[in-house]
Amino acid sequence: MDNVVRLQSALHDLDASINYAVKANGNLAIMQVMAQCGLGFDVGSAGELHRVHCLQRHMGRRAPLVMTGPAKTTATIAAGLESGAQLVAESVSELQRIQQAAGALGITAAVGVRVNPDLEASTHPHLATAAGEGKFGMPLAEVRRLAATWSTWPALRLVGLHCHVGSALYRLDELDAALGLLVALAAELRAAGCALQWLDVGGGLPISYGEEPVPDVRAYGDMLRAHLGGTGLALHCQPGRYLVGDAGLLLSAVVEVKQAGRRRIVLCDAGMNDLLRPALYGARHRIAALSGSGELRSADVAGPVCESADFLARDVLLPENVGDLLAVLDAGAYGMSMASNYNGRPRPAEVMTWDGQAIVVRQRETLDDLLRGEALLPANGPESQDVPGSAAP
Ligand SMILES: Cc1ncc(COP(=O)(O)O)c(C=O)c1O
Repeated sequence: MDNVVRLQSALHDLDASINYAVKANGNLAIMQVMAQCGLGFDVGSAGELHRVHCLQRHMGRRAPLVMTGPAKTTATIAAGLESGAQLVAESVSELQRIQQAAGALGITAAVGVRVNPDLEASTHPHLATAAGEGKFGMPLAEVRRLAATWSTWPALRLVGLHCHVGSALYRLDELDAALGLLVALAAELRAAGCALQWLDVGGGLPISYGEEPVPDVRAYGDMLRAHLGGTGLALHCQPGRYLVGDAGLLLSAVVEVKQAGRRRIVLCDAGMNDLLRPALYGARHRIAALSGSGELRSADVAGPVCESADFLARDVLLPENVGDLLAVLDAGAYGMSMASNYNGRPRPAEVMTWDGQAIVVRQRETLDDLLRGEALLPANGPESQDVPGSAAP
């Protein structure tokens, strides 16, 4: 919650809507805290939208809602419109589908378009989303053409421009460059008669996973203020990592310690299925031994999954006698939301500390949960048939 307050105060004098990116951590209790703090939501799928619906029913009120992301199906578009979400279109063909869905619902939909500014971002390549040849958004020239022919979209009102340069952006100048392009484009479009109301700068604010310096959130606010001041445009943003990244940790029990050549390997019961970031991005997380004794020694921390990439950390300092419990720090964003059941592994429980209490906000999955939705073949299935090549010798 401190992170929310810090961001809100950095943006306090702007006409700003902070829409929490549900993909970072979609736990309902976390979303509830965000809504209580006055935040809206950015959803990227029908599943994330369903979470918002569920929360809204519980709270008895609606929260501001934006739907972004590529390859929205027609059903997802319709569900978004019916929920009152402002949709951000990624392509002209998506706009066509939004137009059809809005026509079918008999509404005029206020939409934004996602601009692809063709900028490099000095983050991990998997987290950079503004490259010209990537799958995200529309080039500036295409957005200009679109705006010039906007009257051909009778069921749509173009009200905003969106750009998400990437996640874990440690350099503000990259966001600054994107926002500069967005503001200039907005001015052109308004001069051409588009009644734009907002610019959405996406997410991207980083956290420190160890030593990397992070931009001050007040500098982020100043940068936004410098661009938006005097434009009359509202600011939308969609932070994820910044709000929840350092608020969560992954607890894991040590199963055994082994020596592999010169490396000491601490094997524990959490793996890449619980926290994918190290395997997917080579991300580094700090690890704290919650018990143990003796000198600190370098170790690699690995999980039980049958993949060589299944490491939670490499070359971290842990006590000689490592004890029985480790905490992988800063696992609150893109941890549980990327977790899977790979290798037949139930996902862990989620526990929130609130007002001095530990509250289970998601039950640990059971082995039976792993089978949910599966079906066996009828009793007279394959065993009773002659399977080529399987006859007893
Ligand atoms: C469209 C969009 N908005 C917001 C976010 C949240 O980004 P972050 O967690 O870096 O703030 C993402 C994440 O990739 C995204 O794709």
